[in-house]
Amino acid sequence: MKKKIRINAGDGYDFVIGGGLLDEIGRMAASVMDARRIAVFTDSTVNRLYADKIEDQLRQARFKTYRYVYEAGEQSKNLDTTAQFLDFMSECGLTRGDAVAVLGGGVAGDMGGFAASVYLRGIDFMQIPTTLLASVDSSVGGKTGVDTKYGKNLVGTFWQPSLVVCDTDTFDSLGEDLMLDGFAEVIKTAAIKSDKMFGDLENGLFTENMSDIIARCVTIKGDVVHDDEKESGLRRILNFGHTMAHAIELESGYKISHGRAVAIGMLMITRASEAHGLTEAGTYKRLYDLISSHGYQTEPDAPLEKLCEAARRDKKSGGSFIKLVYIPKIGEAAVMKVDFDELYDFYNV
Ligand SMILES: NC(=O)c1ccc[n+]([C@@H]2O[C@H](COP(=O)([O-])OP(=O)(O)OC[C@H]3O[C@@H](n4cnc5c(N)ncnc54)[C@H](O)[C@@H]3O)[C@@H](O)[C@H]2O)c1
Ligand SMILES: [Zn+2]
Repeated sequence: MKKKIRINAGDGYDFVIGGGLLDEIGRMAASVMDARRIAVFTDSTVNRLYADKIEDQLRQARFKTYRYVYEAGEQSKNLDTTAQFLDFMSECGLTRGDAVAVLGGGVAGDMGGFAASVYLRGIDFMQIPTTLLASVDSSVGGKTGVDTKYGKNLVGTFWQPSLVVCDTDTFDSLGEDLMLDGFAEVIKTAAIKSDKMFGDLENGLFTENMSDIIARCVTIKGDVVHDDEKESGLRRILNFGHTMAHAIELESGYKISHGRAVAIGMLMITRASEAHGLTEAGTYKRLYDLISSHGYQTEPDAPLEKLCEAARRDKKSGGSFIKLVYIPKIGEAAVMKVDFDELYDFYNV
């Protein structure tokens, strides 16, 4: 069954979720985009799986298409690849009225969206997320960007797509690892905003009803983003578990993937906040039971001292303190300030 969610960010756009949607993509694109030409931007893996179909559909719907393929992986998410794609668009003669279709995971979305936002000072783009992470997280909110040698996502823009089409059939080719990576963000979304959804996850409703759970994640993220499009405050709650997650990723040399690190990070902050009396008793256990039942690692490999040092180095804003997101109970989030000098003691419970 097809679900459509309106995201009220930028000019507003539809996020459509369901099985078999790649077969309708041309028609959907034509209904929201005036472009004559579309540059499809995808990685080497997704290219083999889905790009032919997408191009066929777009062509049948009157678009002239071009395709740019980069080598799959985070290592491609940089200014060099972006520059090559920007040149490619110029060579294809794309004008201000034309568009980009980003097809793939969060890397395609972040980098393709970034290129669309700066090409001729910004052209339309649509997202076709093919990982769970991209579907529930990176394709909503309008953050685009690439990494530099100094760190992740250091260059970017806020740029909203005209349409997002999430065909859940594309998850059939995702390995268990990539599903788990995205599922951590699903758990996070429920933990900060919906006790009901958390309960549904505890009852194993995800696999039976994936479109529905994705729709709820997208609705929640859409609402949070709508209230704080440029990330000045409220949107911070989406970073639940992420302070330690970034430190864990960094300390593992990126061997522990983002989602797995988020799972551990959510457990670390909740154990601490519950021990400090900030979180309703029993919350940590519910979170632990859900996370561990899906086979995630629950403790970091690196010692806490190292993680606290990494968190201090990683901070994006100045100051001697860090703002930590915690949950007073399942379905609610709050933010507290902790001095960097007290971070170790806070977590060491
Ligand atoms: N903009 C945001 O708000 C936001 C939020 C969260 C994460 N991100 C970014 O998202 C990126 C991570 O996303 P990701 O994990 O989707 O990365 P990704 O795009 O690299 O995809 C992961 C891997 O899955 C493969 N893949 C994609 N779809 C597939 C499919 N259907 N079947 C088989 N293989 C498939 C890709 O080729 C790639 O090797 C990071 O760069 C992160 O910074 C952005
Ligand atoms: Zn995340």
